[in-house]
Amino acid sequence: MIRSPVRARVLRIAVVAALLVAAVPIGAVATAGGIGAPGSDGIGDGYFPLAGNGGYDVVHYHVEIRYAPATDELVGRTTITATATQVLSRFNLDLIGLRVTSITVGGEPATWGRQGQELTVRPASPIADGIEFEVVVRYRGIPRSPLSYGARAGAIPTDDGVLIYGEPDVAAYWYPSNDHPRDKATFEIDLTVPRGLKAISNGRLMGREPTGNGRVTWSWHENDPMATYLAMAVIGRFQLDRSVTSDGIRVLDAFDPRVGRDARRSIEKGERVLRFLEGRFGPYPFDDLGGVVDIWSGGFALENQTRPIYPPGAFRRGQNVPLVVHELAHQWFGNSVSLADWSHIWLNEGFATYAEWLWSGKTGHRTPQGLLSAWCEIPAERPFWTVTPDDPGVGSLFATPVYVRGAMTLQALRTTVGNADFFEIVETWLAEHADSTATTDQFISLSETVSGQELSGFFDEWLSTSGKPSPCVIGTT
Ligand code: ARG
Ligand code: ZN
Repeated sequence: MIRSPVRARVLRIAVVAALLVAAVPIGAVATAGGIGAPGSDGIGDGYFPLAGNGGYDVVHYHVEIRYAPATDELVGRTTITATATQVLSRFNLDLIGLRVTSITVGGEPATWGRQGQELTVRPASPIADGIEFEVVVRYRGIPRSPLSYGARAGAIPTDDGVLIYGEPDVAAYWYPSNDHPRDKATFEIDLTVPRGLKAISNGRLMGREPTGNGRVTWSWHENDPMATYLAMAVIGRFQLDRSVTSDGIRVLDAFDPRVGRDARRSIEKGERVLRFLEGRFGPYPFDDLGGVVDIWSGGFALENQTRPIYPPGAFRRGQNVPLVVHELAHQWFGNSVSLADWSHIWLNEGFATYAEWLWSGKTGHRTPQGLLSAWCEIPAERPFWTVTPDDPGVGSLFATPVYVRGAMTLQALRTTVGNADFFEIVETWLAEHADSTATTDQFISLSETVSGQELSGFFDEWLSTSGKPSPCVIGTT
């Protein structure tokens, strides 16, 4: 679902118009009274032209996966409920590598074609603008997990199951989707696995049902809109720890039994971290919380909605609560307020890093201002200063400056506008764009509105200009 007031109004008008003209009940596929036009093969991202698609807006995914760890074979059925935003003669989904065995649109068999990540679906008849329609894709195969930004992403087999996660590349490796954070949707994820294994995903565990042949289906619901890359599946042997926080958030952590004490102790601090972050950012945006630690080599932590995944290596040298702070901060920055374009990645990583800085100050380590000063010691000629956090370039999506110079920008903003205005900017930002998407320009205008200052020069120097800002340390330490 793409949530913006303008968009919602346009859609409502379109629905009404479609109903009047075509008189078709929502849910059926309407013949459009014209041949329509193909939906575009990309949503319009600045870095990934083929990511996502155009011509429709997904409301809900029901992803049903059967996975056999013995062979790594995945059998999938994904049901997508979407609203057409134009008359569609055909439309695309993103899906890589798996073999499609059937597709229906509105219950009618559809034909399809494949090219790279694009799965082009041609319904039996065009879909009218504004109509809600349902697509069912059946598919199977051994999902891939190529290198993406220096680490494997996709479906990574482990010795007792599989780990399906990644950013930005992951959804297309296991379910067909409109794969871009601009089109968020609610999810039901049903994972069918051999009895004895556990299957973890986002949101709330709604049930476990034996389905015959020695298999059990684990059913998970995420009822808050979620970006496609934040959906995950982890299958294997796990110990589940469940509890409920004082304000009713359901906690479910999953640890591979071989995971050490430091990882467990760090993740068990989730509730305390949540209280800290709520004090700075406002209420936790979701109803469920947790963490997953599996055993696999390499890898990175990822903020999968409600339940981040952490690599065991992150806890090799002891507890790592700052990492938990980082991934939980993403629940606000990235997951509730999502990127409208991947080039704005600093809105995720800069804020998550800044949350670590706040935690550092709070726990008696360096303050955010001390950290700003420390990073400002990097000499101007170092390559660190060549990466601009807003629009770092597709190859530098997760480069250190995106994280660190992003956080520096926020601390410099804080000293420029003052504490009260800074936290008002942050809270307003989160409230205004909750469950939706936002851009850097929106952040800049909000900062200007709240502070009453003209800040385009400030942001231009910190976010968009190659080279070390001068002065670098703003404010006194
Ligand atoms: N959002 C992740 C984090 O919090 C970024 C991981 C990206 N790394 C990668 N290889 N894809 O750090
Ligand atoms: Zn991050």
